[in-house]
Amino acid sequence: MKIAVVGTGYVGLVAGACFAEIGNTVWCVDKDEAKITNLEAGLLPIYEPGLPEMVAKNVANGRLHFSAALQPALAQAELCFITVGTPPRADGAADLSQVYTVAQEIGQLLDHHLIVVNKSTVPVGTAEIVRSIIAQELKRRGQENVTFAVVSNPEFLREGRAINDFMRPDRVVIGTDSNEAAKIMKELYQPIVRDQHPLLIMDIKSAELTKYAANAMLATRISFMNEIARLCDKVGADVNRVRQGMGADGRIGLQFLDAGAGYGGSCFPKDVKELIHTGRKYGLEMAIIQAVDQVNERQKHYLAEMIGRYFGDNLAQKKFALWGLAFKPETDDIREAPALAIIRSLVHRGATITAYDPQAIPQAKVALTGCGGRLFYAENKMAALDDADALILVTEWQEFTQPDFAEMKRRLRQPLIFDGRNQYDPVGMAALGFEYYCIGRGYCV
Ligand code: UDX
Repeated sequence: MKIAVVGTGYVGLVAGACFAEIGNTVWCVDKDEAKITNLEAGLLPIYEPGLPEMVAKNVANGRLHFSAALQPALAQAELCFITVGTPPRADGAADLSQVYTVAQEIGQLLDHHLIVVNKSTVPVGTAEIVRSIIAQELKRRGQENVTFAVVSNPEFLREGRAINDFMRPDRVVIGTDSNEAAKIMKELYQPIVRDQHPLLIMDIKSAELTKYAANAMLATRISFMNEIARLCDKVGADVNRVRQGMGADGRIGLQFLDAGAGYGGSCFPKDVKELIHTGRKYGLEMAIIQAVDQVNERQKHYLAEMIGRYFGDNLAQKKFALWGLAFKPETDDIREAPALAIIRSLVHRGATITAYDPQAIPQAKVALTGCGGRLFYAENKMAALDDADALILVTEWQEFTQPDFAEMKRRLRQPLIFDGRNQYDPVGMAALGFEYYCIGRGYCV
């Protein structure tokens, strides 16, 4: 099939590359000309394992194209995916202006039948608005006879595993009121839908809501576990044991029950807030979802509070090493990352921090300019430790899981670790001579 994908962020680039990989001809469109120039030169705006290779391969075989203009892509397309950003506004609602702009441009250019697919995460009712914007533009041009369908096809991929998640999805959700669009979407996804991993056709509103409900459910599990972890610390229980005991119940399962420094990223925090906003719009108080959000905001400060109790409120003479800036491993994304909240809180109290992350230092340098003078970056994890009063581990990158503890002891001013991701065994750490604090395992300050 011939496909235009508008917006070359995470979802757009991955979808574009993967649709090309399975045999379609794809035009990835972005208004940002510098981004397109870079993409044409093989430079990707994001770090995602496997993506540069897949993009290069499909550019070389002529199935993947980049364009700063929508017109040449749309002129040939049977399907047009909207994959632009929907960042949160100050009131928690998703900012849909980019989606609406694309809809308007489609309406201004369209001269043949098209299936318009919303892949951006958008609140219930957005497909209807997209439909009316396109219809209005067509009418304005006297082109009411040009037909089109609007489909909701939310994306569930995780950063860091995006290609695998796209190519081997647990499910594909298609919301449509058009039999013809349903048939074409089925054909498109046929190569990647596997046995027992269904392609679910439903009405548009249910598809739109599915994405938010799924993300809110996952965020709920994390906040639930972080609350249990706090109780574990109070009573002297081990949250990892509790997780194993709970998760062995087939109805519960083990996934997304890891207590830690809180969830971050471009999806969970924003989608949880948007769901609260949508509820409010319809006169509903989303009590559970609100609590999920509040618990997470509090959890991001748990480690920093512990450090405050250990060293006192004035941290002016203290120097900390911090491992992990990205909101999770295998990404350079620092949006809503717990590390940002921890760094700001410690720097505010006078501390000096040397941070290390395998990928996200350039992004952190931009986001944390306000911490200048007190925030430094190390070239590797060991260099970050020199003369630090403690190590704070915030993101569980693989290279932090089995470090050389003897060298760490030599470099740190004192063998003290605050671990926000429960990476080490507390008993083993004591045997190695470390003072070790973590989340929900009874080793806290
Ligand atoms: C998420 C959804 O998983 C994905 O389906 C959706 O399309 C986009 O949002 P992503 O933002 O890439 O994907 O991150 P994910 O791997 O889900 O992790 C989100 C956050 O939860 C991270 O900060 C992670 O550290 C945290 N987390 C995850 C926990 O704290 N505990 C867990 O048990 C699991």
